[in-house]
Amino acid sequence: MTRALTVAVPKGRLARQLAASLAAAGVPPGALAETDRTLVREATVDGAPMRFLLLKPDDVPTYVEHGACDLGVVGRDVLLEREADLVLPHDTGLGRCRMVVAAPDGWTAPPRDRALRVATKYPRIARRHFAAQGTDVEVIFVQGSVETAPLVGLSDVIVDLVETGETLRQNGLAVVAEVCAVSAVVVVNRVVFKLHRAAIERFVGRLPGA
Ligand code: PRP
Repeated sequence: MTRALTVAVPKGRLARQLAASLAAAGVPPGALAETDRTLVREATVDGAPMRFLLLKPDDVPTYVEHGACDLGVVGRDVLLEREADLVLPHDTGLGRCRMVVAAPDGWTAPPRDRALRVATKYPRIARRHFAAQGTDVEVIFVQGSVETAPLVGLSDVIVDLVETGETLRQNGLAVVAEVCAVSAVVVVNRVVFKLHRAAIERFVGRLPGA
């Protein structure tokens, strides 16, 4: 019997775009619908058995790196923050957005007498970005609604994702520097990629490409 490929699929923002692409790749639409609370879904794709795990985006690299899933789809932001040991054979181009530094409108330059305070969900990405610039920073970790931080004096600037720019605009913030481009990439377990490369490439070949 053919070995079922197990795929880690992120819930949330990316899920809707991904569901449409996976449907075009032959995955029955019901297999990923978030209409019930089952988190492991079985489906037959092009005659082959497959299993889909619906996970928090941050957990996708963990499941794939440990071999609990063969492959997964995840934003480059999550990967850059995690530094997991994975094969990245494909950029889907889905969920395209930018990682940026943003500050209140009118902000000009970092303070001279103390470290720049940076609020973010992405402390490693932020530290790397400012270290490369030689800017001394104090990174303040927050889980979400990051745009609030500079409005109430928790930080000077933020490092966060921007898609439409609407959240920044509505909160009186503006982009002051680009950190990197972000989109959803396929990640594959290293051993699985060696042993089952043909099956992986067959499936990945059906996904959209950047
Ligand atoms: C993300 C990101 C920004 C927003 C950007 O947050 O952190 O806040 O989307 O999107 P926009 O440029 O289209 O306005 P998300 O909605 O995932 O929620 P969060 O604040 O809980 O992280």
